[in-house]
Amino acid sequence: MCGIVGYIGHREAYPVVVQGLERLEYRGYDSAGIALYDGTDVKFSKTKGKVADLRAKLEADITTTGGIGIGHTRWATHGVPNDVNSHPHFSNSGDLVIIHNGIIENYDPLRQELIKRGYTFESDTDTEVLVNLIEDVKKNEGVKLGKAVQIALNQTIGAYAIAVFDKTKPDEIVVARLGSPLAIGVGEDEFFIASDATPFIEYTKKTIYLKDGEMAVIRNHKKLKVRKIKDDSLVDPYIEELQLNLEQIEKGGYDHFMLKEIYEQPQAIKDTFRGRMLVKEGIIKMAGIDDNIEKFKNARRIIIIACGTSWHAGLVAEYIFEEFARVPVEVEYASEFRYRNPVVFKDDVVIAISQSGETADTMAAIKLAKKQGAFVFGICNVVGSSISRITDAGAYTHAGPEIGVASTKAFTTQITILTLIALRLAQATGKMADSEFRSYLQELERIPGKVEKALKCNDQAELVAAQYKDAPNALYLGRGYNFPVALEGALKLKEISYIHAEGYPAAEMKHGPIALIDEMMPVFVIAMRKGHYEKVVSNIEEIKARSGKIIGIVTEGDTEVKRLADHIIEIPETLEPLTPILATIPLQLLSYHIALMLDKNVDQPRNLAKSVTVE
Ligand code: G6P
Repeated sequence: MCGIVGYIGHREAYPVVVQGLERLEYRGYDSAGIALYDGTDVKFSKTKGKVADLRAKLEADITTTGGIGIGHTRWATHGVPNDVNSHPHFSNSGDLVIIHNGIIENYDPLRQELIKRGYTFESDTDTEVLVNLIEDVKKNEGVKLGKAVQIALNQTIGAYAIAVFDKTKPDEIVVARLGSPLAIGVGEDEFFIASDATPFIEYTKKTIYLKDGEMAVIRNHKKLKVRKIKDDSLVDPYIEELQLNLEQIEKGGYDHFMLKEIYEQPQAIKDTFRGRMLVKEGIIKMAGIDDNIEKFKNARRIIIIACGTSWHAGLVAEYIFEEFARVPVEVEYASEFRYRNPVVFKDDVVIAISQSGETADTMAAIKLAKKQGAFVFGICNVVGSSISRITDAGAYTHAGPEIGVASTKAFTTQITILTLIALRLAQATGKMADSEFRSYLQELERIPGKVEKALKCNDQAELVAAQYKDAPNALYLGRGYNFPVALEGALKLKEISYIHAEGYPAAEMKHGPIALIDEMMPVFVIAMRKGHYEKVVSNIEEIKARSGKIIGIVTEGDTEVKRLADHIIEIPETLEPLTPILATIPLQLLSYHIALMLDKNVDQPRNLAKSVTVE
């Protein structure tokens, strides 16, 4: 994780870099730092805490007007978050200054070697080792900075996106990437560097996404040259014209990104199926699927790999694919899959789900599956992300930027697109009658309206939140399609309010969690009228008999759960496989309000990061 930003050009670098860091804080926010060249020397500042703390520290004495600068917002890997471990890091001479996102795995032997040669280290970071290694190469081999970076990187093992400059030659920034993202914004006689394009979106839409193993020496007024780190060969960079605009990455009147993103769900879901679902004609059109339909039809299994909330969307998809297309599905944590020597057949289809498209474990799992000959299909939200590039084919969710660390609209749009894929496959294999297929399309088209209606429970969610905000634990129960929703509901609460919460299949409660139930324990039960309703009602009776507090997420007009529960929140009726999309909404709002009432940082919960590019 970590966010990196850099600028070289005719503007003052400071505001560009600091504002860029604020936009990248979703990637890590335990410390921040900046280094700027002011015409004579490098000015720098770093601090434990957020970019706002850095700004406060800097704003008082910032006098620089220099046009070159780099900045970093950190999610600690090596070394606790403190001022010293914060980036940027300097080489021993003080000439070279670097920012780094990633991990240099062999930093320790490199550090020992450098210590033998007289280098000293202030911090515990792998990054300080890297910048001194570059300095060592530069001195010993008498090469320019670009070449020194290249030679040094060829001695490292690990992942990086770096930006480094030399104060004795302050007209260039050297950047390189392997395993961590790096975008270069190409302006008029100016360049921007960042972990994603959001820091420079108002300055230029022209973007080069460096590929793994590539580096560039960025000089003002010069054409950019991109090379391969391994063999120095030149590559022709592809300049993309971004669709993103500033409005999409701002809060638009909401107090928090999370709330904005919860409310964006009706539109986000519409955007997910826009152009893909022709309801009247009874057609689903998705190029990534249509072009590879034989692979899907002949799949021995579908293996879904993902992490976090995306893994929960994968679990919902397991129920949907097996029901609609009668194909066996396995859902795996990417982090487990990559290390457990899995059996992958050449006729398996692997679906990798990732909002950011950058998650390191998911990337590694994809590479493993590809190596074993499987066809890998990616579902990402971030356009141009690493996963979208390394998969054989894929589809974007088109949910728009998700900035709140707790994932919301990414989840519901992932379920939406997975439902479309399952329907398309069921149609292609003849496993679903045309009339049923068409009724799903018609109902899917109504889903954004129903999400809109579900969002009306906000006030009620706030009331329920007020009652249970001080509970030390919470239990979430669901069955069938809504078991993964229970997991997701619990995850949302944990992530942003730090209340311990567990999600469980309702029927499994009696095999353990029931022991936890007493009058202090809120139990959120998803009890849709369709599918195992009576069974879930029996579970609710069991909770009531043990004095647990019951909050039922129910279908509009429900009477039975209403009779038993302490509170109910109603959501519109829909076809059973589509209920997860609607049942998720009140759970998101409940978590949001509880976190807010507990005065937690909703958008930037402690210890978490939006994009986990380390394993
Ligand atoms: C992090 C985020 C989660 C996310 C998970 C997987 O833990 O905080 O919200 O679900 O990574 O991320 P991905 O981008 O691969 O979906």
